[in-house]
Amino acid sequence: MSTFRRVFSSSVGTKLLIGLTGLAMFVYLILHLIGNALIFAGPDTFNHYSHALISNPLIIPIETGLLLIFLLHVYKTIVNYFSNQSARPTGYAEKKFAGHTSRKSVASSTMIFSGLVLLLFVVIHVKQFKYGAWYLTTTAPSVRDLARLEFEVFRQPLWVAFYALCTIVVGLHLRHGIASGFQSIGFDHPVYTRRLTVTGVVLAIIIGGGLAFIPVWVYFTQ
Ligand code: HEM
Repeated sequence: MSTFRRVFSSSVGTKLLIGLTGLAMFVYLILHLIGNALIFAGPDTFNHYSHALISNPLIIPIETGLLLIFLLHVYKTIVNYFSNQSARPTGYAEKKFAGHTSRKSVASSTMIFSGLVLLLFVVIHVKQFKYGAWYLTTTAPSVRDLARLEFEVFRQPLWVAFYALCTIVVGLHLRHGIASGFQSIGFDHPVYTRRLTVTGVVLAIIIGGGLAFIPVWVYFTQ
């Protein structure tokens, strides 16, 4: 096995890869939230933003990179989960809160489950929007009318509930993931632990809450 593969297969290397890929997707989600918030500026602005995005020649390499990062994150978290399970097959007899320095929370204990929900969500979501109905705007220049598709989906209460629930799961996943990711790449110190945890929680609420707000806003206003 090459030195590179040995390092990234070790438990420290695995944590490092999970942290790096997780933080890359966190950056993607910030940009995704900003881009999607353009729907508040009206269908035209949103459609022209989406058109500019898909017409960019860099979109294919960026999407391929994003997919590889996503798959690596899923693969490494599953490997890490099973190696932790085999290291402690019987689990703890009693789970106790370790005090204010502990990062343990509902979010941290359920990362693998929230992650699996998000895996399913992303497959459904990408099929529904990226590969969904390709309406065209009637005004020149004619571009994809993604806003129309979004309004059609989010006028249906079940889809609104599905998206609101899944984006809350995104927030829960990020609530632990942001601080943990920074810790894994070495950006941690006892002095900053609390600050990092609080920043993670605040960003998780902004991203999860912001994304959840979009379908609810469309449902009530469009
Ligand atoms: C309710 C909140 C969300 C809305 C309104 C939304 C909207 C959209 C839209 C309209 C597209 C299609 C873009 C295009 O093809 O031009 C898209 C793509 C995508 N979304 Fe979302 N999204 C939301 C939440 C999320 C979340 C939480 C994730 C990840 C956990 C996510 C991941 C993706 C991915 C990976 C793509 C495909 C990107 C690409 O390959 O170009 N989205 N989203």
